[in-house]
Amino acid sequence: MSAKRIAVLVSGGGTNLQALIDAQRRGDTAGGEIAAVIASKPGAYALERAARAGIPGYVVARRDYPDSRAMTVALVDKLKELDIDLVVLAGFMVILTEEMVRAYPNAILNVHPALIPSFCGEGYYGLHVHEKALEYGVKLSGATVHFVSEACDGGPIVLQKAVEVEVDDTPETLQRRIMEQAEWVILPRAVSLFCQGRLQVEGRTVRILKQSD
Ligand code: GAR
Repeated sequence: MSAKRIAVLVSGGGTNLQALIDAQRRGDTAGGEIAAVIASKPGAYALERAARAGIPGYVVARRDYPDSRAMTVALVDKLKELDIDLVVLAGFMVILTEEMVRAYPNAILNVHPALIPSFCGEGYYGLHVHEKALEYGVKLSGATVHFVSEACDGGPIVLQKAVEVEVDDTPETLQRRIMEQAEWVILPRAVSLFCQGRLQVEGRTVRILKQSD
């Protein structure tokens, strides 16, 4: 079986992209290859990380299109042109329209910095998620990797990892701990499982198949 061609979609710093690049270097994403990084903003630092790793970078900027549907269609065209099999949203801050899910059913993974269904949906992105978790006073938060469906943050869950909240946490310290202990661990793992063909979606449930020898 040929390696699955992965596109990582980013908007900012790209630490999750870096975790994927590092996992690929260690040989932990066998069966897959990061073939492209696509940013929603021209200056995204994630593009520098891609260039340093020798991965082609592209920009499909929201501001170049009249609405998010037009941007989504342009993005799908780019992904098809690049012959992409798996789309990974790694800190991608634009909400895509249904054209994307229709083009890549059960083949788009998103990492969200909370334990879905808590602190998710529209308006819950980046640091805001951690602000809300601290305001609520939860003792545990974490990260979720899920397949993208038409409902914002509502697709079938692939992996989750809990992280303890500490008494003197700020949104920044909580964000960092969740990235280190959860996101950078479960995102490469989910990508690897997908590339090995070990994720089977049954309604809302994702069954993780045993490794075949
Ligand atoms: C990450 O914490 C990611 O989970 C979050 O944005 C951050 C991006 O960091 N994504 C969302 O909130 C999407 N709803 P990164 O650019 O360093 O990977």
